[in-house]
Amino acid sequence: MNFAIIGCGVIAFTHAKALKALKDEGCTLYGACDIIPEKADAYAAEHGAQRVYYDYHDVLADPAVDIVCVCVPSGTHGEICKAAAKAGKAIVCEKPMEITPEKIADVIGVIEQTHAKMQCIFQRRMMPVAIAVRQAVREGHFGKICLAGADLKYYRDQAYYNSAGWRGTWELDGGGALMNQGVHGIDLILWMLGGEVETLSGSAKTVSRHIPVEDTAAAVLNMKQGGICVIQGCTTAYPGFSSTFYIHGEKGTVVFNDEGILEWRFLDESTAPVRPDAGERVGGAGDPTKIGDYGHICLLRDIAEAVRDDRAPAIPPQEAALAVRVICAIYESSRTGRPVAL
Ligand SMILES: NC(=O)c1ccc[n+]([C@@H]2O[C@H](COP(=O)([O-])OP(=O)(O)OC[C@H]3O[C@@H](n4cnc5c(N)ncnc54)[C@H](O)[C@@H]3O)[C@@H](O)[C@H]2O)c1
Repeated sequence: MNFAIIGCGVIAFTHAKALKALKDEGCTLYGACDIIPEKADAYAAEHGAQRVYYDYHDVLADPAVDIVCVCVPSGTHGEICKAAAKAGKAIVCEKPMEITPEKIADVIGVIEQTHAKMQCIFQRRMMPVAIAVRQAVREGHFGKICLAGADLKYYRDQAYYNSAGWRGTWELDGGGALMNQGVHGIDLILWMLGGEVETLSGSAKTVSRHIPVEDTAAAVLNMKQGGICVIQGCTTAYPGFSSTFYIHGEKGTVVFNDEGILEWRFLDESTAPVRPDAGERVGGAGDPTKIGDYGHICLLRDIAEAVRDDRAPAIPPQEAALAVRVICAIYESSRTGRPVAL
């Protein structure tokens, strides 16, 4: 499988590391594309890509490319994903898949029309503990879940926001602490709960960074199944903290963060689900260049297998839409001062 990376910035390095790990499984970093030629050239030289492009249309026109990894600013994911699907390429799209529910629906429409294979990156879903919690919820081990939550306290200084013109803008980042960083944890807690959000109330503010989007936010989500899910997210908590997830039910509690499992307790120990290995570290709380590559390895391997075996990938676009819907609803609630029904 020949992969081409579109957008040779920060996260493209994680894709390169993942493809290196998958070399023996037949995955090749074949092409590198960036609108800044020096970035494409340097990336291709460092990671051994055979072909360099400065315009993504040339990537899509190259019959040797099987899979494109869309690693450009978030608000331009949709344009490239739609063009790639129409060109017959399989797609890996970085998070968030797009920045509004409308733009996401547009991409899903084209994917359904073209039957293109598309993998959305939410690497935390590959963590063994997250998979085990989702399974435990499904099997009813928690009983009725009363309270769940995600503490998503990152640190990104002003230099981070100044490092690329699109960061912290409504047009291309789609938001701040929630849409860029928090989207990982919001996706994960909702995926583990497997529940639907009925209504939510949120508050999103810019407390200390010089950006138009939020650097600090919190929301209370009323779940259809009855419980409450609390989200806290920011990019202003020095020095940046491991994202922490809580699931409390009448028959069990699990609390874990990026370092490991803090609580794994069930009322009936004889039927309790097996405590899993916490798995690889996720990283990136204080520095986006320190993001681990475990989840990317899993998801890139999975799309290659999905293409080979003609099956759906692990995280198709229909599955990646909810977190962005919830985040946009939090923004709306914050703007209007009213709860929002989903
Ligand atoms: N999964 C994760 O943990 C994770 C971490 C960081 C970033 N991301 C996501 O990855 C995406 C990129 O973020 P980043 O931090 O790497 O950004 P970045 O600014 O470091 O890199 C983006 C690159 O895309 C290039 N580019 C812009 N428009 C292009 C186009 N039309 N064609 C080709 N190249 C183009 C830019 O020149 C730049 O080099 C974002 O959507 C972000 O949310 C995901």
